[in-house]
Amino acid sequence: MSTIITDGSPETGVLPERIRRFPFPFTADSYRYSANVEPARKTVETAAGSWGSHLLDVDEHYLHDLKEREAVLERDPSRIAALPHMRPAIWDAVATLLPAMAEDYPDKMSFERSGSSCRWRNTLQSLEVEFTIGDDESLPTSPLHFLGSQIQDDIVFLDARQDALWLDAGLVTFAADWSLGFDVGMNFLEVHHPVPRVKEERIVSRAEQFLLRLQPGDQYRRTNWTMTVDRRLDTSTETYPDWAQDRSLIVEDVDLPGRLHLRVEVQHMIRLPRSAALLFLIRTHLLPLVDIAKVPAWRKTLGHVLAELPEDMAEYKGIIRYRKAASDWLLSTNG
Ligand code: HEM
Repeated sequence: MSTIITDGSPETGVLPERIRRFPFPFTADSYRYSANVEPARKTVETAAGSWGSHLLDVDEHYLHDLKEREAVLERDPSRIAALPHMRPAIWDAVATLLPAMAEDYPDKMSFERSGSSCRWRNTLQSLEVEFTIGDDESLPTSPLHFLGSQIQDDIVFLDARQDALWLDAGLVTFAADWSLGFDVGMNFLEVHHPVPRVKEERIVSRAEQFLLRLQPGDQYRRTNWTMTVDRRLDTSTETYPDWAQDRSLIVEDVDLPGRLHLRVEVQHMIRLPRSAALLFLIRTHLLPLVDIAKVPAWRKTLGHVLAELPEDMAEYKGIIRYRKAASDWLLSTNG
């Protein structure tokens, strides 16, 4: 099915799937932080199409993104970290997410389970694996690495103890300017320490209380966003020297609209059914401004959001140098 934009603008035409299913996160012309949480799997209609009906989203970048993840892990094994007490939570995530993905994509994947014995088929990777829940040796790699080779999301585990959440395990190869290796072992408030405003506005403490009250099996989600030069998934602190200078250079680049991407994270929060640990999934979507501009409502909204965003938030998001050039292009009549 294709979407036709029929508001009479010059962009009228059939939109490709990458635009139709993009999780455009803005509903107003300005943006502030909030504890914007909603139930998972709720379909959201946008000006171009819709997104959100699945827990795990498999898209046209599936094989490319997973290849990129392996390359990052090869270069830097510190992108996987797990404190020993999180082992049951990791197996709980394997036993929860693989069947969920098979249910959502029955033509591509299947999961069969008898007691602890499981069979996983993934036709996208021509893969068939038999393994035993709880037996690390039965998988080709560690359970966390294996899970990260099947889903595009970054994976974080939080342990709930002392009325707080602790980031005690994760596989994060596509971080937006943070570091799993630095954050592992921290609690929820410490993890959010660099974020401006959220302490004053009590967003993080309210979010933590919300997450602590989730019941086993509960699944919620929120979106977050920033911008990235090129379709670069790995913008973690560890590779800062590789990408930081692009944030200045892009301002003078005539190809700014083709290279600058809106980066949207669809983040799922799942209370795992057996271990009661909290699973935090971060799925990164990138769409260049030239594609955003094909949807007139998105072009205007993003243009206004970028122009209006307060300095401290623009600074923290790392977009301060180019946000004016981006918003000028989006709001110009021929942009
Ligand atoms: C309802 C739940 C949550 C809310 C409201 C929330 C809020 C936020 C906000 C507003 C930011 C700043 C983002 C930006 O401007 O780019 C942020 C960053 C971040 N969040 Fe959350 N968050 C939530 C859940 C989580 C969870 C469960 C984790 C997992 C530990 C997490 C880890 C992070 C990290 C690592 C950063 C980047 C911090 C840095 O710059 O070092 N968040 N969060």
